[in-house]
Amino acid sequence: MPPRSSLVYQACRYFSELATLYGYLPIETPIFEHTQVFERSVGEATEIVGKQMYTFEDRGGESLTLRPEGTAGVVRAFVQHSLFMTEQLPWRVFYVEDMFRYERPQAGRYRQFKQLGVEAIGGKGPQLDVEQIELCLRFLEGIGVGDLEVRVNSVGDESCRPAYIRELRGFLERTEVAASLCGECRERAERNPLRVFDCKRASCKAVVAEAPRMLDRLCDGCREHLELVASGLEAVGVGYTIDHTLVRGLDYYTRTAFEVVCGSLDAAQNAVAGGGRYDGLVELMGGPPTPGVGFAVGLERALLAAEAAGGIETSARSRSSGKAPGSPEAGGVPRFDPTVPVPDTVVVPLETTVARASISSCLGLASALRASGMVAFVADGGRSLKAQLRSADRLGARVVAIVGEAEVSAGAVTLKSLGRDRESERDQVTVPMEQAVDRVREMLRASGEGLRE
Ligand code: HAM
Repeated sequence: MPPRSSLVYQACRYFSELATLYGYLPIETPIFEHTQVFERSVGEATEIVGKQMYTFEDRGGESLTLRPEGTAGVVRAFVQHSLFMTEQLPWRVFYVEDMFRYERPQAGRYRQFKQLGVEAIGGKGPQLDVEQIELCLRFLEGIGVGDLEVRVNSVGDESCRPAYIRELRGFLERTEVAASLCGECRERAERNPLRVFDCKRASCKAVVAEAPRMLDRLCDGCREHLELVASGLEAVGVGYTIDHTLVRGLDYYTRTAFEVVCGSLDAAQNAVAGGGRYDGLVELMGGPPTPGVGFAVGLERALLAAEAAGGIETSARSRSSGKAPGSPEAGGVPRFDPTVPVPDTVVVPLETTVARASISSCLGLASALRASGMVAFVADGGRSLKAQLRSADRLGARVVAIVGEAEVSAGAVTLKSLGRDRESERDQVTVPMEQAVDRVREMLRASGEGLRE
């Protein structure tokens, strides 16, 4: 068995390679931030802010906190540097960073641990959620973690959640219900009622089994989003369970919330990854209304799970065996290539009467392109074809794949070369979906720049 530091190194490199295929570039955030950054984003009523932060005063009397998670710092940077003005949105970034939480240390739960995370800020389409869940699962499977279950829920948004929270609180405060709750949950009922779903005590579980469910109270927009995420996951072959009790321990989530749990880990810390949408967070942090979505894998937990299943998978090892330029000797975290990944292909769904089929077929195609080593992702959608082509061009994409109504009914895709010469700009073909990957490869070769390594 290679030393642990070498496993960390290999897993981090594998994660960065995968994240690049999905169009994410590396970012580093500060180890500490002003305490407010976490209080506002993660939420004052959460366990993380209430009990787990390492907070201290600096010499100037300012309150600082060691980062307990990665999303807040990324969003703070996005707002502080006005990246909504300068970056092509969605802005896709990934990070491999240490996090700090004051917890009772045990196997799989540490006070300092590594998260491998991604954030996509500025995209509202369900395709982003699906691509991230797929990336998360492919990474875990790629390092050899078995017995995985993807749990998905919708926690609603500002138009349906407040009424639901009032209803839930009313239910939890009924005398006969409150009497069966543990002391902690009685307190949660007041401060943060959704967290009651997280309690592991049998008596509380029995109570919440009778509670009103967010899933039954979703507004049309949230319901449709969840349905599109579900059909997208099916399109890319990711099995999932809808779990209406999944609420996550951070307050910023809206709509999609998900977790990946591993059956071979102790139930108290079997979540190897978690994430979801945070469509209100950028605005909460002082930016313009901008949706976002992300997830983080707990690296130590993931490696424990991979070891339980027989060691880190060779697929990750072989792909990541080389030494990255400037990277430390087999150990710690490699230094990642900071260049923005240029997409080989941007796959564009069109707002049509068959939107769901269009998104699913785009997701399936992007997934197949990545599986054969090409950088590809589905555009956020919701804009005119012209605007989407312009945006793909600005990103430097070489091929755009379009799936509109005609293509959906024909089981086809239109491929358009965005080559820099006039000849290739006229190059547009419609081909059956099963031939698309080969045709894209040919178009990339013909574009003169060839296939990337
Ligand atoms: P989280 O669920 O708090 O989400 O953490 C993500 C993962 O970090 C967990 O699933 C777990 O594997 C790992 N983890 C958490 N605490 C510990 C610990 N004390 N020791 C070892 N591993 C741990 C977040 O942090 C969100 N920022 C994820 C996200 C990104 N959501 C949107 N974007």
